[in-house]
Amino acid sequence: MEKDLNELKVQAEEKVHAAGDEKALQDAKVFFLGKKGKLTAILRSMKDLSAAERPVIGALANTVRTDVEAVIAAKAAELKAKRLEERIQSETVDITLPARHQKEGHIHPLDKALREIMKSFMRMGYSVEEGPEIEQDYYNFECLNLPKDHPARDMQDSFYITPEILLRTHTSPVQARTLRKHEPNSPIRMIAPGKVFRWDNDATHSPVFHQVEGLVVDKGIKFADLKGTLEIFLKDLFGSDTKIRFRASYFPFTEPSAEVDISFAARTHDEGGDPDWLEILGCGMVHPMVLKLNGYDPEKVSGFAFGMGIERIAMLLYGIDDLRNFYENDVRFLKQF
Ligand code: DAH
Repeated sequence: MEKDLNELKVQAEEKVHAAGDEKALQDAKVFFLGKKGKLTAILRSMKDLSAAERPVIGALANTVRTDVEAVIAAKAAELKAKRLEERIQSETVDITLPARHQKEGHIHPLDKALREIMKSFMRMGYSVEEGPEIEQDYYNFECLNLPKDHPARDMQDSFYITPEILLRTHTSPVQARTLRKHEPNSPIRMIAPGKVFRWDNDATHSPVFHQVEGLVVDKGIKFADLKGTLEIFLKDLFGSDTKIRFRASYFPFTEPSAEVDISFAARTHDEGGDPDWLEILGCGMVHPMVLKLNGYDPEKVSGFAFGMGIERIAMLLYGIDDLRNFYENDVRFLKQF
């Protein structure tokens, strides 16, 4: 029996070594160590042994079992490692292949400037209004105290579609529309951004450009409110050291009217110390006729209004010197913002 056990051990180890996969290994295990396997068969015949032999053979049988189990475990580990290695080989990714870059979009500098403007006014509690780009002559001009033969209509070269319909020349008609949307004499605090259109095209004028309109109406609104508001806004936008100047001007929809200039410390002429002023927006106290024409009572409420070009502000904010850059959509230009 000792011989049988030793033979079993040799055979089992050979079989295990020869196993090419987990299935063959499992078969070998069952064949030698299983309930109906070879080792069990040998152990069954132990009953024929003498009492002296039995423990010796028993111990040997245990050693054989342990040895074969160890060989099987080692083989199992080897097969597992082999399978992993095969997977690693078959699933390799060529990391030296250059990546395909996704092209990222950018916020257009005009949109970026508009967002800055909106942020500043929304912080002061302004709502954001919209109006149509194809507008009635009535809202674009007449409701804003610019009747048909008013000479100030020449200030804005308009694209007419019919004698009564045009592409709006400014965002000011949204003032009239907003006033009419409200209960007469109720307070308003709004801005209205959007596209405007004029018959003009060169390095500093585009037939399509963008404005932001502003309107505040309430009881007792004064010119000081206009000044304070615009000062907060312009310092918000251009920095707290920005200098601001109001210059008397004329707009048919405001009285008095003003143009606002700004100056940066860095732009001051060194020699004379004279600031380099840049015109940035138009504004004024809402003309009583505008309030009246749109259902408000100028005896009860007053207001201020302002209008600015977004292109001009974006040019100053980002140091752009040719307006046409905004519309050519050259990625090399847009990418910088
Ligand atoms: N609408 C004017 C323009 O396009 C700008 C403007 C000036 C708007 C004064 C206003 C204002 O609301 O009060 O030139």
